[in-house]
Amino acid sequence: MSLTGTLTFPGDKSISHRAFMLAALAEGTSIIKNSAMGKDVLSTIHCLRDSGVNIENIEKDETHVSGHLTLPDRDLYCGNSGTSARLLTGLLAGQGITARLTGDESVLRRPMNRIIVPLTEMNARNEWPDGHLPYKINGNGLRGIKYRIPVASAQVKSCLLLAGLGADGNTELEELAPTRDHTEIMLKELNVNISISADKNAITLTGPCENLPNFSINIPGDSSSAAFFAAAGCVKDSEILLKDILLNPRRLGFYRTLQRMGARLEVMERQKQFGELTGDILVRPGPLRGIHLADDEIPGIIDELPLLAVLATQAEGNTIVHGAAELRVKESDRISAICSNLKNMGADIEEFSDGFSVVGPTQLKGCKIQTYHDHRIAMAFTIAGLFCDESIILDDQECINISFPEFFTLMNRLVK
Ligand code: S3P
Repeated sequence: MSLTGTLTFPGDKSISHRAFMLAALAEGTSIIKNSAMGKDVLSTIHCLRDSGVNIENIEKDETHVSGHLTLPDRDLYCGNSGTSARLLTGLLAGQGITARLTGDESVLRRPMNRIIVPLTEMNARNEWPDGHLPYKINGNGLRGIKYRIPVASAQVKSCLLLAGLGADGNTELEELAPTRDHTEIMLKELNVNISISADKNAITLTGPCENLPNFSINIPGDSSSAAFFAAAGCVKDSEILLKDILLNPRRLGFYRTLQRMGARLEVMERQKQFGELTGDILVRPGPLRGIHLADDEIPGIIDELPLLAVLATQAEGNTIVHGAAELRVKESDRISAICSNLKNMGADIEEFSDGFSVVGPTQLKGCKIQTYHDHRIAMAFTIAGLFCDESIILDDQECINISFPEFFTLMNRLVK
């Protein structure tokens, strides 16, 4: 089997969340085009609507956002979306909005102390008994802090920057390793007083920042969604062109890794849109070899590690990933999900507390996949199915709608 085609993708999920949240702070009407419309971004949209923001026209791919945040009269339900929960907590605290946030079973298990500790230091007076949702926030009178974020997390960084917009004085953040920087890029585009140090490790935002200008954004295709099709492009004799996707270097860890493993990729940069580099990537197969990832490469490939594990089974030699303990506290325990499912498919994989090691190549066997209702596990193992003679069966296909409802439509668009 070979796969060929040219594909475009719905907008990047991380940028979509941020676009709606910043539009909720802007004066007048902002316009958002090509937003991701998976359940996660819809959770952000519903929470903002429940907090008084007008969001119209979402079915027409030109969404209008206007109005301001006000006190919600019900709990804000974040569904499965850790990004909604963490970023909205910062956004609302910064605006002094008292709200109770909750979510589904998986979000209720996600660690929140990573934002509770610094927000409390910023003077947020909150009721969060055990470091998990549901909790109530009340951020009146926030002040900026100097804080070294102890975990490499764009969600924590973004939560604190959004809170910093409403805080008095400087919010100075230092990162352990470079994580996705969409919040910083968008805030710069909106003329917020934010600066990045020369070594790019430290960010300073001066607040309070009143009245963001309204804006219009066309969100580039999601490079994490496109990554599944880059992996499909590694099937023998395939050729897949990923068009108009986000080429932010902090999101391309998977593509750089694929290249180092031996796949043939051509990256064609085109233009900057709202501060973000975009363009096309052409993927063709090559003989894959195993790879060792360094710890500081992990944040740039964090969401694609399940997919990397799948491809590692097709590569000659050993692929080793350490420093990825964060995978245990994603939508599911992704290290355990990767290892148990790949073992069932016949792969040679060893589980570590903070990663895994795969020895390949292996001819994978079809089997029933336990997704743990995790969208990225479901999609990564659908791709594993391309490297098997028999079929794989997902125990839950619906969970893919969390980030990428268009996944199977695009799969079916590839010519076999
Ligand atoms: C995201 C950041 C990452 C990523 C998640 C989206 C974001 O989480 O895994 O899918 O939009 O900021 P962490 O920052 O917690 O690693």
